[in-house]
Amino acid sequence: MDLVTIVDEQNNKYTYKRYKGYAFNQEVVGNVRDRLEEVANFKVRQDDVLIGIFPKSGTHWLYNTVLMLRSGSLKYHGSGPGLEFDDLKMMEHMPSPRTFCSHLRFRFLPEQMKLGKGKIVTLTRNPKDLVVSMYHMMQKMGDLGYQGTFDGFLKRFLSEECFCGNGSWFSWIKDTEEWKTPNFLCLSYHDLKENTFANVVKLAKFLEVDHDEEFLRSVSESIQFDKLKESHETTTPPSDRWKHVSEDGRLPIYRKGKVGDWKNMFTVAQSEHFDKIYRENVEKLDLKIYTKFE
Ligand code: A3P
Repeated sequence: MDLVTIVDEQNNKYTYKRYKGYAFNQEVVGNVRDRLEEVANFKVRQDDVLIGIFPKSGTHWLYNTVLMLRSGSLKYHGSGPGLEFDDLKMMEHMPSPRTFCSHLRFRFLPEQMKLGKGKIVTLTRNPKDLVVSMYHMMQKMGDLGYQGTFDGFLKRFLSEECFCGNGSWFSWIKDTEEWKTPNFLCLSYHDLKENTFANVVKLAKFLEVDHDEEFLRSVSESIQFDKLKESHETTTPPSDRWKHVSEDGRLPIYRKGKVGDWKNMFTVAQSEHFDKIYRENVEKLDLKIYTKFE
């Protein structure tokens, strides 16, 4: 594993862990190799649910929705344990039913999940919106994040050096498309926002949880942006881990929660360049997910 720092022509610094040619967030535990091996061999239970998602696509939104549906309560649960970031021993001993998260490309997920054990659920988000969301968060993350210009970050995001997804968003999506077993549900950020109730119903069915319509409607209300943001600010205990990134010691997750916020950040030239790379990659990788994003 190498710790790589790229300094571009505008003096923007970008640091990531590189292992076997893949880019990893510096927060991935240790030398990466050992953690990947442990994750691959992780013992999956039939009733495990993994939120496998590209960062800034709505991880917390989906995690809390899944927990509400699985627990039958509207309690907010903050951030889920991450396979590549947190204590795996603790996750091994968690009582069932377990729900965890990962931003790893699907090729790195537990082997038993690839064989169909447990369930995986994801949310896809317009990559233009998520790079903006990511950039804002990275600016708050000190040395673990990115302090340069948006233009510099965009270049790295569009390349295979993108540490958010062990490569570019396109490569990440390619892996999800190649998932072979039916234990996988893919929802869209845009649709979850517009048709929350219908998606909550779909998710409940996939998770095989039985709730009456009244409860499902309450979940749909409780996972609206303002509600989650308020719960995050009032019920998530401050953590030493995030003291350096936010004044209140909480991971800064809930910013705007909008579709199309990229229009406030991208220049016309950046947007045209992005669209070109998007089209080329969709063709090159033969991606089926060619969604028309606003
Ligand atoms: P913005 O930065 O664009 O506001 P993650 O949990 O993967 O880090 O994703 C965070 C992004 O999801 C943030 O995007 C956050 O506001 C958005 N988000 C969280 N809950 C949401 C909700 N209920 N509705 C819409 N967006 C939500």
